[in-house]
Amino acid sequence: MQETELPLQLRDFWFIAAASRDLRGAPVARTILGEPVVLFRDGSGRAAALRDRCAHRNMRLSAGSVRDGAIECPYHGWTYRGDGTCARIPSLEGDPPPHVRVDSFPTREHDGFVWICLGDPASREPFRFPHAGEEGWTTFTMTTRFEAGAFSCLENFLDVPHTVYVHQGWFRNRAARPTRAVVRAERDGAAVAFDEEPEKESVVARLLFPRGGRLEHTDRFVLPAISRVDYRFGPDRHFIITSQCTPVSEHETDVYTVITFRFGRISPLVRLWFEPLSRKILRQDIEILREQTAQVKRFGGPKFTYVASDLLGPHILRHWKDAVAHREPLVSETAVTIVF
Ligand code: FES
Repeated sequence: MQETELPLQLRDFWFIAAASRDLRGAPVARTILGEPVVLFRDGSGRAAALRDRCAHRNMRLSAGSVRDGAIECPYHGWTYRGDGTCARIPSLEGDPPPHVRVDSFPTREHDGFVWICLGDPASREPFRFPHAGEEGWTTFTMTTRFEAGAFSCLENFLDVPHTVYVHQGWFRNRAARPTRAVVRAERDGAAVAFDEEPEKESVVARLLFPRGGRLEHTDRFVLPAISRVDYRFGPDRHFIITSQCTPVSEHETDVYTVITFRFGRISPLVRLWFEPLSRKILRQDIEILREQTAQVKRFGGPKFTYVASDLLGPHILRHWKDAVAHREPLVSETAVTIVF
């Protein structure tokens, strides 16, 4: 199975389906792991998720409307509750037969997002965004549709070498130097800890770390499709950029990015320039990944070459293959030197 196809197999994991604020009155249509889903709030206000196909004649339920906490099909008015059972068939006298229903999926809601699992989550619970909403931390979120598969998105978010070229001048320049890194394969993902000195002439270092010094930088992949990047400078300056990737199709991904940081008393001011900066960097990644996807399609599929400085991509693939095969992942630790 190719790198681009693997994420669509991760049905037993939780993914973000929508922001909580998106679920107001009208039904919300989403495609998750290639599965059409309709979301709405049921009679108790809980987020409900059903397969987006009416049991009667296959109409899109998401084209209908929500009435009294149930969703009404726009074709003949069959109406379904949040658990997928049929509440009403207008043309039929009496109650709907019990076999009339559509598939429903479990949901969870926290940190301002609605999560869904299309398979069997067993005892798994959705990821919690670190420090989101905590006192002393500032948080903002961004939702972005990438024209790229989840693997390409995650690898990009966790890849240092591309920053020299795609984000030239923002993080690092071309005066490369060797940097020590420790790569740890963990049970639920993999992490790289860098021992680096921030590039003093970069835009980001001048804004975030004007006094120079050492930076603790960690890149982490967390199953099923989450990237977490930590920049920590001293006890009170800490930036965490977490991106949860929801695979839409082989070459499309909805990325929910949560940026959480503390910067002492001036955190609210820092957001004024950190948010537009983050959006600019995101736009550069959207563009390079769109180009990459066009090439993958043009040549009929991916053909990737891995070298030792591709630190986390191989770990992402191995974790996905283990998860699909229900295998226990291996744990390891390796020290590498990477030049950037
Ligand atoms: Fe939905 Fe007939 S197709 S009610």
